[in-house]
Amino acid sequence: MADVYHIPALLHESVDGMNIRTDSICVDVTFGGGGHSKEILSRLGKGGHLYAFDQDEDAIHNIPQDDKFTFIQSNFCYLKNFLKYHNVDQVDAILADLGVSSHHFDDQDRGFSFRFQDSELDMRMNKSGNKTASFILNTYTEEKLADVFYLYGELKQSRRIASVIVKTRKETPYKTVRDLLTTLDSFVGRGEKEKKILAQAFQALRIEVNEEMDTLKEMLVQGLEMLKPGGRFAVITYHSLEDRLVKNFFKTGNFEGKIEKDFFGNFETPFKLVNNKVIVPTPEEEERNPRSRSAKLRIAEKR
Ligand SMILES: C[S@@+](CC[C@H](N)C(=O)[O-])C[C@H]1O[C@@H](n2cnc3c(N)ncnc32)[C@H](O)[C@@H]1O
Repeated sequence: MADVYHIPALLHESVDGMNIRTDSICVDVTFGGGGHSKEILSRLGKGGHLYAFDQDEDAIHNIPQDDKFTFIQSNFCYLKNFLKYHNVDQVDAILADLGVSSHHFDDQDRGFSFRFQDSELDMRMNKSGNKTASFILNTYTEEKLADVFYLYGELKQSRRIASVIVKTRKETPYKTVRDLLTTLDSFVGRGEKEKKILAQAFQALRIEVNEEMDTLKEMLVQGLEMLKPGGRFAVITYHSLEDRLVKNFFKTGNFEGKIEKDFFGNFETPFKLVNNKVIVPTPEEEERNPRSRSAKLRIAEKR
């Protein structure tokens, strides 16, 4: 395991935005290395509690000893059920810091990073999940593969990449990161462009393996339901697809960003935006923590 599990991004901006009182009931749906959770706990006192979710069992090593803390090893798409199980009907604030942690990229055995060529093409955040990246590469139809690379990686050459994958796997099924890099080699160019395209391709597969878009939607809908009126939702995203969903949901209450008027023509939204403009890391934070560079924070308050 890497020495530093994860450096939290936009730590103070996001936790300040949660508007925590000492007796708040809070949820951190993406516990990871526990950086945000630690900051939340430091602001809680008598009557306050923090429920934290992570689907990756590795996060268990970071659990703090604190009576005000409960860890739930689960996908956050089961947010509502698990809170009900713990007799929680409503919460004051929810934080989501989406995607994978540095720990995932730094773990040579998990296949998230193109730096480790011998690693198996796994990419599951939940190690007992049933869909790996190699499963996708070896079984999806050419059309479905092209969709994954286009929709989740925004790769212009998605169709040609999918076509080469389908031809290659007939001879040799995909197993390691090296296998995928060999296929992508002719599509990536060299230098910074190479890294960018590889990152986009790996991101696409990771999103599909972990069903990140569907689980995010599920969590946002359940989070809205669980928040008290006046409760805060703070979400940090790392790519434009996630950010668009969160932005639309906070603005309109739906994922398409459709403005829905009531019978009298009034525009009704479930949230009041706390920040109209998205919050991004300062140059100092980016310098200190390069992985925070793509972070975007949006905060909304339930009406
Ligand atoms: C960016 S990291 C969060 C880091 C954390 N805020 C910290 O300070 O260390 C995202 C974490 O959320 C977890 N995660 C991502 N999607 C999840 C989901 N759908 N359900 C539960 N956990 C998830 C990942 O396993 C990872 O540990």
